[in-house]
Amino acid sequence: MSHIYIFTGKGGVGKSCISSAHAYMSARQGIDTLLVSTDMAHNLGDIFETKLGSEPINLMEHLDIYEIDPNTIMENDFKDMTAAIKKMLPVSYGENIQEFGMVPGMEELFALLKIAKIYQANTYERIIVDCAPTGETLSLLKFPELLSWYMEKLFPIGKVAVRVLSPISKQMFKVSLPNKVAMNDIEKLYYELFQLQELLKDREVTSIRLVTIPEKMVVEETKRNYMYMNLYNFNVDGIYINRILPKDINNSFFDQWLAIQSTYMDEIKQSFQALPMYRVPWYEEEIKGINAIVRICNDVLEKGNVFTQVEISNRETFETNDSGYLLKVHLPFVDKKEIDLFQTNTDVVLKIGNFKRNIPLPNVLRKYMIASAKYEQDCLYIQFEKGEGADAQ
Ligand SMILES: Nc1ncnc2c1ncn2[C@@H]1O[C@H](COP(=O)(O)OP(=O)(O)OP(=O)(O)O)[C@@H](O)[C@H]1O
Ligand SMILES: [Mg+2]
Repeated sequence: MSHIYIFTGKGGVGKSCISSAHAYMSARQGIDTLLVSTDMAHNLGDIFETKLGSEPINLMEHLDIYEIDPNTIMENDFKDMTAAIKKMLPVSYGENIQEFGMVPGMEELFALLKIAKIYQANTYERIIVDCAPTGETLSLLKFPELLSWYMEKLFPIGKVAVRVLSPISKQMFKVSLPNKVAMNDIEKLYYELFQLQELLKDREVTSIRLVTIPEKMVVEETKRNYMYMNLYNFNVDGIYINRILPKDINNSFFDQWLAIQSTYMDEIKQSFQALPMYRVPWYEEEIKGINAIVRICNDVLEKGNVFTQVEISNRETFETNDSGYLLKVHLPFVDKKEIDLFQTNTDVVLKIGNFKRNIPLPNVLRKYMIASAKYEQDCLYIQFEKGEGADAQ
């Protein structure tokens, strides 16, 4: 089975360098690897000191690099689908595909669909994804789910397909997918989005890796990023602490910095105990060219099993209990007061800060109501009871 590794983190923390090092390391192990960037401000070309085009190029044996240009793939790979989305949009978006590309998140969505396509073509055993900074990556990852949710509400998509959307209900009811040939464009798009979600949330396929720096602001953001990744049920199974100063630096200018780093290293260790952790030194020069990449491989990646995928948190689960059903969602680092929870006819809606997630309810639960909710040991437990229930607390 092929694997996807997605690197995410705040701007400038070292995502591109660290994902590049993974790609190089993977190729060195003799595994066919693709390093792909979804960041519109591409810089893999700078790191590898080579010119990249709109198609993957071969860098060395077992390693191809590809900076995705969403406009090119929208025109070349997803013509029918862009047409399908166009149908769904207000007329004012017009005929122009560039204009249409301006719908927020849309271009990146096609970059993801392209990655799914590459995955399905089975050319590479490992696909390493260098992402844009945190916020954009989050919107990117939640987008397929969000869009299919809207599509369900707006279009008469077959009920079977609707229920298939939820990994939970799929597991519970083992429904089969509708026949792809009979679908129209919108259904096809919906189906592709569904498949994309399945791929990104499949813990045996996709790993999300966090890149951070031992400083307050970055650590805070890393925690929130981790929480949101859990909210959307992605498997984060590694954290990279980058730019660690050498202890024997012997220059009083860095005394304070060493103390700061030590404080936040401790905090990271405590907060992310569950995750495999890798430490990357702060090098005396910027990371450019193969030699710099090889250095990261030798100093850091070689020492761990960086490509091993580990299931860190359990999937969301619906369990039956005496009172009805219990939905369990793994949600570390959330402030209880921030959680907003309600139920619609078809979904449980979970809101934290500016992020909202609709978790579709299995059919059997439509007659149940949320009776109570509690947050305990990094998990949110939502209890459903039959008939009229009390509001969530
Ligand atoms: N361990 C390190 N030692 C020295 N320089 C580093 C280290 N890690 C990253 N850098 C430098 O920091 C800068 C940012 O790194 P990189 O481009 O990998 O970050 P990024 O997270 O991909 O940034 P962006 O959010 O802009 O995509 C680069 O100039 C890189 O050479
Ligand atoms: Mg980058």
